[in-house]
Amino acid sequence: MAAVDPWYVEAFREGYLRLYPQRDLSAARRETAFLLAHGLRGRVLDLCCGFGRHSLALRESGLDAIGIDLSPELLAHATNSPGWEELRGRLLRADARALPFARASFGSVVNLFSSFGYFGEAGDKQVLLEIARVLAPGGFLALDLMNPAFVRAHLVPFSRTERDGALLVESRSLVAGGRLVVKEVELHNESGRLQWREEVRLYEPAELSRWLDAAGFRETAACGDFDGSPLTKSSTRQLVLAERI
Ligand SMILES: C[S@@+](CC[C@H](N)C(=O)[O-])C[C@H]1O[C@@H](n2cnc3c(N)ncnc32)[C@H](O)[C@@H]1O
Repeated sequence: MAAVDPWYVEAFREGYLRLYPQRDLSAARRETAFLLAHGLRGRVLDLCCGFGRHSLALRESGLDAIGIDLSPELLAHATNSPGWEELRGRLLRADARALPFARASFGSVVNLFSSFGYFGEAGDKQVLLEIARVLAPGGFLALDLMNPAFVRAHLVPFSRTERDGALLVESRSLVAGGRLVVKEVELHNESGRLQWREEVRLYEPAELSRWLDAAGFRETAACGDFDGSPLTKSSTRQLVLAERI
C-alpha cells in the first residue's frame, strides 16, 4: 500500500495559495512593522515561512532574514515570483522539528499565521526546543496562533466561496474535546478537484505560557492581534512574544 503523507504535507501544496488571499505581502509588511516595534532584531528565522511573504517583508526592512518550510511547492512559488528575487538563496526546505542551524545562531525567530500545533504534543514541544536551541540568549520569539476561545465562539461549520473562477468548499469542526480544529477543504478549479484537510491543535494561553517556560523562554507579552491589544477571549488572534532566557 502506498504511504500517505501527513496532513501538514498534503495541505500546503499549490491549492493552499487559493485559500487565504488576505494573507499576502501587504499584511506581512504590517505585521513585520509591529514586530520591529516590539523587539524583533538581529538575524531572523522565519519558521514555517510558506511562500515567504514575511521573509521578504523582513528583508525589505533591512534585516538578515531567512525562511524555512517543509513545502517544496510554496518555497518554489516564492522564489519564482516576479519581484521576489531577493528571496533566492534565502529560503530552505527543512523540518521545524530538526532545524539545520547551529545553537544560538539567530537573534529572532518568528512563527506566523497558525504554523504551530501540527505535530502532536511531543512534536510541538520539539519545535519549541528547536527554537530555543537556535535562538541566542536574550533572543526574541513571536508566535502568532489561533485564539482557542475565539475559534470556539466563531467557528463557521460550512462555507462555499467562489473566487477567481474557483469554488472553495470548507467544513470546520472541533474534535478531541475542543482542542483540535479540523478543516476539510475542497477546491474545484479549471484543473479538477483538489481535496485536503488541516488539523491544528489549539493552545490555551496558560498552557502555552507553561510550555514556553519549560522550553527556556520568558513570555513578555500576549496580544490579541498585531495591533498590540491585550489578549482576551474575544481577540481574533493569540500573538505571544517571548525572550530566550
Ligand atoms: C498556515 S501556513 C503559514 C505560512 C506562513 N508563515 C505565512 O504566514 O504565510 C503553515 C506553514 O507551515 C509549513 N509546515 C508544515 N509542517 C512543517 C514542518 N514540519 N516544518 C516546516 N514547515 C512546516 C507549511 O508548509 C506551511 O507553509
